[in-house]
Amino acid sequence: PQKVIAIDGPSASGKGTVAQRVAEALGWAYLDSGALYRITALHARRRGADWADEAAVAALAQALPAEFAAGAVLLDGEDVSAAIRSEEIGMGASQVAALPAVREALLQRQRAFLGEQGLVADGRDMGSVVFPDAVLKIFLTAGAKVRAERRARQIGEPLSGERFERILAAIEARDEADRKRAVAPLQKLPEARLLDTSALTIEESVKKVLDWYRE
Ligand code: CDP
Repeated sequence: PQKVIAIDGPSASGKGTVAQRVAEALGWAYLDSGALYRITALHARRRGADWADEAAVAALAQALPAEFAAGAVLLDGEDVSAAIRSEEIGMGASQVAALPAVREALLQRQRAFLGEQGLVADGRDMGSVVFPDAVLKIFLTAGAKVRAERRARQIGEPLSGERFERILAAIEARDEADRKRAVAPLQKLPEARLLDTSALTIEESVKKVLDWYRE
């Protein structure tokens, strides 16, 4: 097996935070594959390429001038860590990620994150496509309402009321978009462990993953 822990799951499930902490605990590298799709969407927008134009977006993804440096995400040398987190770019990421040529263009780049020391990779198809021989595969999820609350806290929005309802609706819309597309639908692999974090803290979730790895 590959020295990889693959953590897949739906939007705002907390897999990014959990994956990062697990990587830190093990001294492994971390891959935020969603960030690559987000950067691709932002790059396409800036270069005036339509998110539905498969050939154009794939060409941009193939030569993506992106770098991950000290927790920041750089595009053409500019820190775009905040810019790629908007819900609009999230939707764009979901759209460009539905194009097979774009997924193909980003495949080797994702695999290149695996070095000597091991890798924790988070996304939608880490266990199924990118690292099928991962030593541990996890499907990390939480209820839609819990995920909306986590997203709201993350961006400093209230946990009830109209603005909260809008966050919840956006999460459900992206779940639906990710579920309906023909390519890379999010699925729980039979061999993946199910980790429902609805009632778990981050620390408890991290511990669970480490316990499974050490088993
Ligand atoms: O943070 P959040 O879970 O909302 O999104 P993300 O992980 O940054 O991913 C953004 C979008 O990229 C998702 O809605 C997916 O459509 C797409 N994606 C994908 O198709 N495959 C991956 N391995 C990662 C993300």
